[in-house]
Amino acid sequence: MCKDNVMDNRPIGIFDTGLGGLTMVKALCGLLPGEDIIYLGDTGRVPYGSRSKETIIKYAGQNAAFLHGLDIKALVVACNTVCSVAFDEVKKPYSIPFYEVVKTPAKVAAQSTKNNKIGVIGTKATINSRAYELAIHSCSPEISVFSVPCPLFVPLVEEGWTDPDDEAAKLIVKRYLEGLAKENIDTLILGCTHYPLLTETIKKVMGESVRLVDSAAETAGFIASDLKEKALLKGDADSQPKGSVQYYVTDCTKSFAAHASNFLKSDISNLVKKITVE
Ligand code: DGL
Repeated sequence: MCKDNVMDNRPIGIFDTGLGGLTMVKALCGLLPGEDIIYLGDTGRVPYGSRSKETIIKYAGQNAAFLHGLDIKALVVACNTVCSVAFDEVKKPYSIPFYEVVKTPAKVAAQSTKNNKIGVIGTKATINSRAYELAIHSCSPEISVFSVPCPLFVPLVEEGWTDPDDEAAKLIVKRYLEGLAKENIDTLILGCTHYPLLTETIKKVMGESVRLVDSAAETAGFIASDLKEKALLKGDADSQPKGSVQYYVTDCTKSFAAHASNFLKSDISNLVKKITVE
């Protein structure tokens, strides 16, 4: 039981455009195994990264409204694209805590670089917004930031072509990152929650010495401690029975369920439901 008897049994909502936000589900389940989680993957409209700000606000707003309607206690926007261009607009109508995934990885990278050279990869919308650059420079203005949009990485992940030996993935990753690999960066922010699924392929191009910063994994620690501080956890994380995770998607469930089960190393096919958010 929490201090002062305060506890909140409602689930935590998380959304992204497809499989990417599962990096947040995995990280939060690891840190807060007793919490119930509801995940929404907007598979019907992925990717968001090449869409306009207006469309991203509209889609993300509909996702937030759907999850809010399920009586969640907090919402994690596990999408760098939405967080970079539309976070304030999406959050505005609600009073529950909303969490974004840009500021924490930017801070971690700024603290981690030794040579003051950081790379950022993300969707076109994320890179064009310069949200990472601004967040890094607010920590340390002298850092040089090398930003590269990688629009084909999200479709690669959604297609399940993430095996480090996949020839198509190797070719695409090399084509986007070979210029960046020559810039002598020592830290690379994976500024899209889909990209950690390509970690091994990215490492092959960037080299083992470059530290990869995973936006979801880095932010999960902050979310866990903030929920605890706000007395919003179900109770003491160590004494809770295992929480549940429900998955909603906005289009066919089969491919999402197969790739998600592969990534989570657990068969979730019976837990995935198709819904409409419009
Ligand atoms: N995972 C989303 C992100 O972090 C992908 C956005 C997209 O669908 O393009 O940016």
